[in-house]
Amino acid sequence: MIQAINSPFRYAGGKFYARKLILEYIPPHSHYVEPFAGGASIFFAKDKAKNNWLNDIDEELINVYLFIRDYPERLVDALKDEVATKERHFFYKNIFQPQNSLEKATRWYYLNRTSYSGIMNMKNCYWGYGDKYSMRPENWGKNIIRTSGKLQGVRLTQLDFEEVIHQVEDDSFLFIDPPYFNADQDKFYSYPFSRECHYRLCNLLKRSQNKYKFLLTYDNSPEIQDLYSWATVIHEKEWNYTINRTDDQKLTKAMKDGIKEQKPSKGTRYKGREIFITNYAPTQEIYPLPQKLAKTSY
Ligand SMILES: C[S@@+](CC[C@H](N)C(=O)[O-])C[C@H]1O[C@@H](n2cnc3c(N)ncnc32)[C@H](O)[C@@H]1O
Repeated sequence: MIQAINSPFRYAGGKFYARKLILEYIPPHSHYVEPFAGGASIFFAKDKAKNNWLNDIDEELINVYLFIRDYPERLVDALKDEVATKERHFFYKNIFQPQNSLEKATRWYYLNRTSYSGIMNMKNCYWGYGDKYSMRPENWGKNIIRTSGKLQGVRLTQLDFEEVIHQVEDDSFLFIDPPYFNADQDKFYSYPFSRECHYRLCNLLKRSQNKYKFLLTYDNSPEIQDLYSWATVIHEKEWNYTINRTDDQKLTKAMKDGIKEQKPSKGTRYKGREIFITNYAPTQEIYPLPQKLAKTSY
């Protein structure tokens, strides 16, 4: 069995810090599906199901996953002499023009590992690497190979969530982590997610929920509580996390644009507050927690 590992990516809105809490709510299942995979922190933190499906609308993200799954050595080779510097970050962000899917994957991986919070929307993609708290380039190869092991046999698609949810097998478990309802998530991701998309998701889940079990995470707001009043359980959850920042990030444009509401100093502690919405009544100890959640630099 392949152990719990960390997501290969830093990912805005990723559930890295909430993974223990979320794993406790996952029921037994043979088909596991993430229609909004992003960095897929939960997939990587849990034991693999018999069948696994990761989907995201972002084709550049899925291209990197495909490379990691199918040609990890080619990506490792392309990144092997890299150093994490502002100059290389500038080069990959502004100058490099990828000519093929390997070059696209290389650029994406480099920028993701060296940008603030892994934000890959180029308008808000800033240098954010720190030697003390980021994964160093000499460890990227190992990270790719380890991730490739876990991705073997996993279905990877680049579809709109609706197509995925229509196709899931009976008895699947869906971990659904859409962009937040009230935050300006278009700053983080390459594809906009409008109010209409949130309503479309809600209606789809309401219509088809008898086919599968789902756990949906959202920012806690009266609108979401109201939209999902038909669901079985709404749990309000809180967790702590810390964000480390390089000195020159303290006054970046990202901050001025309000990506974080307050100006954090180095190592600022935050509280994550969300709601977990399910269409089943969770019982105690429903999914065996992996013995040890991987702990490495994130
Ligand atoms: C909150 S993030 C997921 C984070 C993930 N759970 C993690 O731990 O890293 C939401 C993801 O939804 C994706 N997305 C946005 N619109 C989508 C759509 N219409 N269909 C599928 N995925 C979409 C975004 O590209 C983004 O990766």
